Amino acid sequence: MESPFKAEVLKGKVALITGGGSGIGFEISTQFGKHGASIAIMGRRKEVLDLAVSALHSQGIQAVGFEGDVRKQEDAKRVVESTFKHFGRLDILVNAAAGNFLVSAEDLSPNGFRTVMDIDSVGTFTMCHEALKYLKKGGPGRSSSGGGTILNISATLHYTASWYQIHVSAAKAAVDATTRNLALEWGTDYDIRVNGIAPGPISDTPGMSKLAPDEINSRSKDYMPLYKLGEKWDIAMSALYLASDAGKFINGTILIVDGGLWLSRPRH
Ligand code: HXC
Repeated sequence: MESPFKAEVLKGKVALITGGGSGIGFEISTQFGKHGASIAIMGRRKEVLDLAVSALHSQGIQAVGFEGDVRKQEDAKRVVESTFKHFGRLDILVNAAAGNFLVSAEDLSPNGFRTVMDIDSVGTFTMCHEALKYLKKGGPGRSSSGGGTILNISATLHYTASWYQIHVSAAKAAVDATTRNLALEWGTDYDIRVNGIAPGPISDTPGMSKLAPDEINSRSKDYMPLYKLGEKWDIAMSALYLASDAGKFINGTILIVDGGLWLSRPRH
């Protein structure tokens, strides 16, 4: 689908996207690139990064991939620094890296719980922490007015409760809390806007193929009138809105992009 945004809304900006090689992260990378940004993507798997970077290049997007695990502070630091060295600035950090699997609370080991907290929650904070120096007003490559912006991708499953997702619910709740607290502290002190996006179920993503049994398309649609799958494009357009000047007065918001699903109830 064609973008409703002008092609230059992110012109001259540099964006670093964790988990940017696949799923929602890759769509955000693509759309940010198509709208003028230079793109650095961070991920654990070299082959995924290489494929993603060549796909971006083939669309005329300036892009580079950096291997790294958001659970490792030294990786976070290195990737943020490499992005700055490569492009000379950093304007937008998108935390899209996430870990997930379905497991009952009874069968989940504390280490399994911790693993997802480490990727989603601690990883998000670590990336923000390492990027602060470059995002704050007056930082390297920036003027004394105007900081950068951060987008944290969470979910809606912690608004209520979700079967076999206790670890992810807890992790995404922490991501949302991190978004709000950084928006307060860094918005005030450094002119950095920090916002989140909470996607509902999005088709053609690693999350959906892992989490949703095949019948979700048929049975759930009957059961929940509002139920439909979103597209990665929907998340990327929301990200464009929040990251561009269109969102310049938006700070500390977590934008739910789920077609209203989380608040729906069965009709009968
Ligand atoms: C139970 C599991 C498990 C599983 C791992 N563990 N997979 N427990 N069921 N399927 C436990 C292990 O037993 C271990 O605990 C601990 O977690 C660490 O496991 P490792 O395999 O060593 O971890 P690691 O190799 O680091 O991999 C972590 C991972 C990650 C979370 C499994 O590889 C991963 O998920 N990758 C896929 C990324 C992904 O799907 N992204 C999309 C996210 S979608 P013990 O106690 O045995 O040591 C998303 C959407 C959410 O976030 C919202 C949807 C609506």
